[in-house]
Amino acid sequence: MGSPLTVALLGGGTVGASVAQLISESADDLTARIGRELKLTGIAVRDASKPRPGVDSKLLTEDAAGLAASGTDIVIEVIGGIEPAKTLIESAIANGSSIVTANKALLAAHGAHLHKLAEEAGVDLYYEAAVAGAIPLLRPLRESLAGDKVTKILGIVNGTTNFILSKMYNDGADYSVVLKEAQDLGYAEADPTADVEGFDSAAKAAILSGLAFHTNVTADDVYREGMTKVTADDIAAAKSLGYVIKLLAIAELTEDDKGVIVRVHPAMIPLTHPLASVRDAFNAVFVEAEAAGQVMFYGRGAGGAPTASSVVGDVVAAARHRITGSVGPAQSIYADLEVR
Ligand code: NAP
Ligand code: HSE
Repeated sequence: MGSPLTVALLGGGTVGASVAQLISESADDLTARIGRELKLTGIAVRDASKPRPGVDSKLLTEDAAGLAASGTDIVIEVIGGIEPAKTLIESAIANGSSIVTANKALLAAHGAHLHKLAEEAGVDLYYEAAVAGAIPLLRPLRESLAGDKVTKILGIVNGTTNFILSKMYNDGADYSVVLKEAQDLGYAEADPTADVEGFDSAAKAAILSGLAFHTNVTADDVYREGMTKVTADDIAAAKSLGYVIKLLAIAELTEDDKGVIVRVHPAMIPLTHPLASVRDAFNAVFVEAEAAGQVMFYGRGAGGAPTASSVVGDVVAAARHRITGSVGPAQSIYADLEVR
């Protein structure tokens, strides 16, 4: 067996701490699956003195720039937001590292730029955790459905808002109390406005559309309405009619095949529809493709451990490529569709 593959972790919060734990707890299995040991060289955080149960404090550093540029085989970015995440990833790519990130906000704004840098440098850029937490969704879209023509994607892609809407529907719970609960459980973004105003779902819808329809879609292209105007009375009225209210992300190819329409907004779902039973922080996504028909993906959409599962899955894929000297499929945006 060759020398260990080195991994730098940028961020040690909800997701980062779970990633560090998973890599440490599954070390032997990961070594067996990859064929080489994974060695975590450091974890960059804002405040290294903060207690982080289950995380080796000797690995903590406040020098994120230094760690990102240290030329490790893989850099995992789980800081979130645009900056400093973008500059750190650019620096990591320039120093030859493959990238694994969970940062949908960054990818939905600068995905094409980062893909280009990664392709030029011959490194991987993986982000399965950026959309729908633990659910394997991006790889199936990028690889398993690559031979088919996807025509529509429809689903619940934000755990926080689904958690809030479920509690309001089932228990008549108060919006602000449930939002606090979602934050305490590690589901919400650092600024929960991203969740409740639909920015997070819009970023995910943009990423999904890009992969499904082979075109470039950014978060700004997505029509967006959040869930903050949905009242307890709206939910009760929907319930009395046999409906539940969900925040949906919908992306579809136009009939002439020349454009895409991507939108995020609350919608009334009949109780008989499979999406109506998606509760708490779970996500579910329907993909419609010409040959496959309808395919449904379901699972935990948020939280440290579920998200870490996706992140570490990407780390294994990138690590295997480092060993064979290959990279995963490049970004496919040949269709160049108009966003309507
Ligand atoms: P979080 O709990 O707020 O953690 C962010 C981490 O980044 C913290 O450890 C923080 O340090 C560190 N950090 C922030 N600014 C930094 C800087 N300038 N330099 C170095 N470190 C910095 O966030 P999270 O929930 O883990 O989310 C991380 C990413 O994963 C985001 O992109 C999010 O959208 C994505 N994601 C989250 C989930 C989820 O369920 N939470 C699911 C899927 C994807 P301190 O700890 O010292 O403050
Ligand atoms: N804040 C996000 C959510 C995290 O609630 O879905 C997972 O992407």
